[in-house]
Amino acid sequence: MAGIRDFEVMRSFIRMCNDGWQQGWHERNGGNLTYRLRDSEIAQFEPFFRRDRGWVPMGVTAENLSGAYFIATGSGKFLRNADIAPEDNLCIVEINKAADAWRILWGLEQGGRPTSELPTHFLNHSVRTAATKGQSRVIYHAHTPAVIALTYILPLSARDFTRALWQSATECPVVFPQGVGVVDWMVPGGTEIAKASAELMKLYDAVIWAHHGIFCAGPDFDLSFGLMHTIEKAADIYLRILGSGQRIRQTISDGNLRDLAAAFGITLNEEFLD
Ligand code: 13P
Ligand code: ZN
Repeated sequence: MAGIRDFEVMRSFIRMCNDGWQQGWHERNGGNLTYRLRDSEIAQFEPFFRRDRGWVPMGVTAENLSGAYFIATGSGKFLRNADIAPEDNLCIVEINKAADAWRILWGLEQGGRPTSELPTHFLNHSVRTAATKGQSRVIYHAHTPAVIALTYILPLSARDFTRALWQSATECPVVFPQGVGVVDWMVPGGTEIAKASAELMKLYDAVIWAHHGIFCAGPDFDLSFGLMHTIEKAADIYLRILGSGQRIRQTISDGNLRDLAAAFGITLNEEFLD
């Protein structure tokens, strides 16, 4: 029988866990990743599934994810260990028909449950799937130090963060033309922060959690990792500017942003332009 790593989607999932670890975004069990499987991928994994584990209520519901399947990191599991033992650190979960509970079909063989942020992943998948007509498949949460640091300095508004990030590297507006959302500090791991995040995910494919990290959405692993990486790198540049102690002489102007949008054929969120 084939092994779980024989499947491209599982290899890509594990690679992304590793990539984030190598960036320094996943101290201990920090961060989590989920992927909404395609029907063809579910069929490939079918020989690995066991259906003897019970349904667990999720505390939130999203009709458009009825019967969906996800690969998810386990709660309390370290992303750096995903590659060493995927069967102990990752799982595949099925969502029930009522779309309000999950059960584990594969993985977490030493026990455990999917990430404590599953309600946020689930509602984010729901709104991004709807917003992209089914294209969105990945939700990624990372503890990115530069963005976290900025949440102590900048006002916690989408406008302040979006403008600071757009002005910190020329490619940023092209990568996230809608901008980024910001959730004020909230208790993580619950349904309230999940609902607040999902409201913003209707507008943005990246949402910052104050003093905690970022959630990014994307149609595949490359684009969601790349979005996280681009935002974090821009935040790091911004911090270097602030930390230099020098006066800012020039920046990317609103005129520059509009020229960029025209040249790249993208529509920038007008709310964030002067
Ligand atoms: P989990 O280990 O439950 O995924 O939690 C990590 C985390 O980053 C919580 O926000
Ligand atoms: Zn976290």
